[in-house]
Amino acid sequence: MNSVVQTEDQFQLATYKKMAIAAERGDGVWIYTSDGDRYLDLYGGHAVAGTGHCHPHVVQAIRAQAGQLFFYSNLVYSSARARAAEKLVSIAPAPLTKAFFCNSGTEANENAMRMARMATGRDKVITFSGGFHGRTADAISATFLGKYREIGKPNVPGHLQAEFGNIESVRKIADETVAAIMLEPIQSMAGVRTAEPAFFRELRELCDERGIILIYDEVQTGVGRTGEWFFAGGVAGDGVVPDVVTLAKALGSGVPVGACVVSEKISSHIRENDLGTTFGGGMLAMAAVTATLEAIEMDRMLENVNTVEAYLRERLREVDHVVAVHGKGFLLGIEFADKAAAFHQKLLGQKIITGTSSDPKVLRLLPPLCLQTAEVDQLVEALK
Ligand SMILES: Cc1ncc(COP(=O)(O)O)c(C=O)c1O
Repeated sequence: MNSVVQTEDQFQLATYKKMAIAAERGDGVWIYTSDGDRYLDLYGGHAVAGTGHCHPHVVQAIRAQAGQLFFYSNLVYSSARARAAEKLVSIAPAPLTKAFFCNSGTEANENAMRMARMATGRDKVITFSGGFHGRTADAISATFLGKYREIGKPNVPGHLQAEFGNIESVRKIADETVAAIMLEPIQSMAGVRTAEPAFFRELRELCDERGIILIYDEVQTGVGRTGEWFFAGGVAGDGVVPDVVTLAKALGSGVPVGACVVSEKISSHIRENDLGTTFGGGMLAMAAVTATLEAIEMDRMLENVNTVEAYLRERLREVDHVVAVHGKGFLLGIEFADKAAAFHQKLLGQKIITGTSSDPKVLRLLPPLCLQTAEVDQLVEALK
């Protein structure tokens, strides 16, 4: 472990505050370290290991695809890509009917905003206080959380800020120059903040009335994390479906892949060469996407998320320091009376990995969708 730490620290830019763990192997909700320790991973490899670490169905699919063809771009057709696109669209709520594949969450958001500008002929984008959308130029300019916009200077012009959950603040600025309204329907990094279901309905109505494209950044909430395939079309958002959903993180179980899933309102405006990226839609990533979605279905993980979330919420009532539990499904923010960082550290000492957030009192849980009640018991006992 010490030599791993030394080598990384010497040769890698120190851009992340790391936990003192060298993760060498994963199995479901467990991470095994180079020291032979086992950790319960309630942070799900940074919200990526939705199917759990090394799900056998995903491993098998990637192995098979690797032996067949790693990659060819969108200049050719591919059965792996056809299957992934069909599968992804089949689980998306109507009227989302077409997928665009890229490589990360920030890239999905960049492309979503670009498509909205193309579809409307307008420039501006409204996003929200507390939202996080990525670190490339347009996405970081759309991020009004903490210091991110500052890091991204000079910002892309035309980004407007509204207050999350406050429809009046949106109405005031949503004029005929606005191409898109983009939001994380559950703001994860801000401390797992949600809005009332009516807010999403009002946003949809406002967009329809003023010819604005509605984009949900579901990089964290998508692919089953909320106990439904997407926040879009789900109960927490009053059944509202946006014009674009962006995805990444859990979509490939750890193989880098992002996607925009769009409605006809968007796809009818997109022409050859309007969008592109070499690696988007590569076979290895596509095999991972299909297998990820199949694994979630085969193991009935959406049902599991709902059952285990209810159990977790119930059991957390027994813990004195817990003030509130925010979020939905397996995107949960545990609010403490005191600093969450202390709980994060103490849990790590008990071999449980969790996440902090930009709210100092909120600890984040983003576990694999296969988490079981016995593991919840382990967390609750440790918290006590
Ligand atoms: C909601 C949300 N959007 C976008 C991103 C950016 O994704 P990526 O890091 O894959 O570019 C993230 C990453 O944490 C995110 O949480």
